[in-house]
Amino acid sequence: MATKAPYSSSAKTSWFNKSEFIPPDAIFALTAKFQADSSPQKVNLGQGTYRDADAKPWVLPSVNLAREALLTRGLQHEYLPILGLQSFREGTAKIVLGSELFDKRATQIATCQSLSGTGALHLAGLLLRATQNKQPTVYIPEPTWSNHHQVFKSLGFPCESFKYYDYETKSLDIDSYYNMLKQAEPNSVVILHACAHNPTGCDPTKEQWREIAQVMKARELFPLFDAAYLGFNSGDYDEDAFPIRLFMGEMDMEAGVCISFAKNMGLYGERVGCFLLGTKDEQGAVNLQSMLEMLQRSEVSNPPGFGAKIASEVLGNDSLKEQWFQDMETMSSRIRAMRAALYDNLIASGAPGSWDHLIQQSGMFGFLGLSLDVVLRLRDEYHIYMADNSRISIAGLNTGNVEYVARSITECLRDSE
Ligand SMILES: Cc1ncc(COP(=O)(O)O)c(C=O)c1O
Repeated sequence: MATKAPYSSSAKTSWFNKSEFIPPDAIFALTAKFQADSSPQKVNLGQGTYRDADAKPWVLPSVNLAREALLTRGLQHEYLPILGLQSFREGTAKIVLGSELFDKRATQIATCQSLSGTGALHLAGLLLRATQNKQPTVYIPEPTWSNHHQVFKSLGFPCESFKYYDYETKSLDIDSYYNMLKQAEPNSVVILHACAHNPTGCDPTKEQWREIAQVMKARELFPLFDAAYLGFNSGDYDEDAFPIRLFMGEMDMEAGVCISFAKNMGLYGERVGCFLLGTKDEQGAVNLQSMLEMLQRSEVSNPPGFGAKIASEVLGNDSLKEQWFQDMETMSSRIRAMRAALYDNLIASGAPGSWDHLIQQSGMFGFLGLSLDVVLRLRDEYHIYMADNSRISIAGLNTGNVEYVARSITECLRDSE
């Protein structure tokens, strides 16, 4: 009779021997460091979240009104459909495309509610992976938002960086941009920051967008817009949506748009977003939407309801929408005023070098151009927190700290001269 156990014990000590330590996300780690700092002088210029003039998070009045209306009518917590809240998807498509283009292309677009802008990028990646014969190369500007490479690499896409910013002139390197487009392999994907480029704050002009669109169309490159700051950049939604409407309207191109309501509605933690795809034909739109439905089902089953209901209420009610437009203007004009105040204070305190780049940039971020030594000294000795690449979230500035920040930068720069 056999005496041996039917299954011999395995030499394997763990299923996870191949695990490795991944350092924490730099910006979230910076926020944690800021929160642990007990200095009364501390200033957080790290994470890109809007702060009011008292450095407090701001719930938009339009959002408060929408929430009250929802609560008054009575909220339930049933599952949303797999593709998300229909009124939210439609309201989003209308505002992003504008009513004229929406009416023209309504039957040629597919939409799917997503876990904010990041989830929209991920859905776009899933769909592109499922629909192309060969996984396309994804061209990503350098520098860019820290998550772009991670999202597309994690889905197996080959990712290529292209030079977007000239660190010498501190401005957009448009020639290198055009060159990349002219050399990119056809059927590649290009990530386009629709406005308020993160981290540089440098966007193409309308003329440059036209040129970019023409080259991309001629070279059969797929435009994938990252639209995280529409309306938040200039305070004017239509102005900020210009490139999306140019590509899909005037240029009649297929395009993907990854939309976030984190910044422009202040719905950061509610994860409210949408992936919108403009296609060439009606059956294509139906097919693609069905694929998005299947991809969403296998990943999150169905998206969260509360934030989408708030956004839908704002988008679907004229007076709330009007209030929202005012709210975006409130946020963007405070950021503009703080950008100007930082510039003025840097000049007044005699900060070495030119600071014109700061007032030429737009959006939430200022890309200062400081060395890592200076950034770390500001953090350790002055309790001023910014990303290692010296990107600051301008919303962290206010009349109570802007002079201190400018003076501290000046001191550090003088010492390192
Ligand atoms: C350029 C860019 N894209 C996308 C996102 C995605 O944000 P969320 O997933 O919170 O909507 C951000 C957030 O900071 C961003 O800056």
